[in-house]
Amino acid sequence: MSAVVRIAPSILAADFTRLGEQIGEASAAGADQIHIDVMDGRFVPNITMGPMIVEAARRVTELPLDIHLMIVEPEKHIPAFIAAGANNITVHVEVCDHLHRVVQQIQENGATASVVLNPHTPPLMIEEILPYISMVLVMTVNPGYGGQTFISEMLPKIRTIREMITARGLTVDVQVDGGIDDHTAPQVVAHGANVLVAGTSIFRSPDGIAASIAALRRAVVQA
Ligand code: DX5
Ligand code: ZN
Repeated sequence: MSAVVRIAPSILAADFTRLGEQIGEASAAGADQIHIDVMDGRFVPNITMGPMIVEAARRVTELPLDIHLMIVEPEKHIPAFIAAGANNITVHVEVCDHLHRVVQQIQENGATASVVLNPHTPPLMIEEILPYISMVLVMTVNPGYGGQTFISEMLPKIRTIREMITARGLTVDVQVDGGIDDHTAPQVVAHGANVLVAGTSIFRSPDGIAASIAALRRAVVQA
C-alpha cells in the first residue's frame, strides 16, 4: 500500500505573496498533485479561492490540480473550475441532492470526479456512487480551516470505505484531508488511505516545503 501513496500539498497554508514559488517548490520536491480548497462562506464559514487562483496555479505547475469544492450548488461553478485547469473536482455529498448528475457533469467537462464526506457523514452515503467516481475524500477535520487537529475517530471510517471499494472490485482512491503530518500519515495509510492532503505540515513547517514532503514520504514508507 505505502508504495502507491500520493502526496497532495494544500495551498491553503501557503504564503500567498509567493504562491507560484511555493507551488513550484512543492512540485520540485515530488508532490503528486496540488490541492486547492475552495470555500464559499456558506457551506463552510470561511471564504478562500476561485477559478482565478486555479488558472494561476495551472501556469506554474504541470501537476494535476485537485479542487476541493466546499461550496453549495457546486454545479453552478464546475465548468469554470475545469476551464481554469482543474484535473479533479471533489464535491461534498452533503450539498448534492443529485450527486450522480453532478458527477456526470464533472466528467463531461473533462475532469475526474470525486466525492467527499464530512466527519459526521456515514460511509453508506457514497455506496451507490462508488462505481462512478475516481476518489473518495474522507475529511479528518471539519472542513473550513487549515491547521486543525486530526480526528482519530475517522480511522475506522477510512478502513470501512477502503473495504467497500475492495469488496466491489473497484479501483477508487481514498484521500484524507485535515491534520495530516508525519505522525498521522502512517495511521491513515495503515487504514487504507492512498492520497494524503497536507497543508500546515508542508507549507508552515520550519524545515521548509521540500523537507516536510520528504518527511511525509518517509513516514508512509515506514508504515
Ligand atoms: C480544510 C481543507 C484542508 C486544509 C487542510 O477544510 O479542506 O485541505 O488545507 O489543512 P491542514 O493540513 O493544515 O489540516
Ligand atoms: Zn481540502
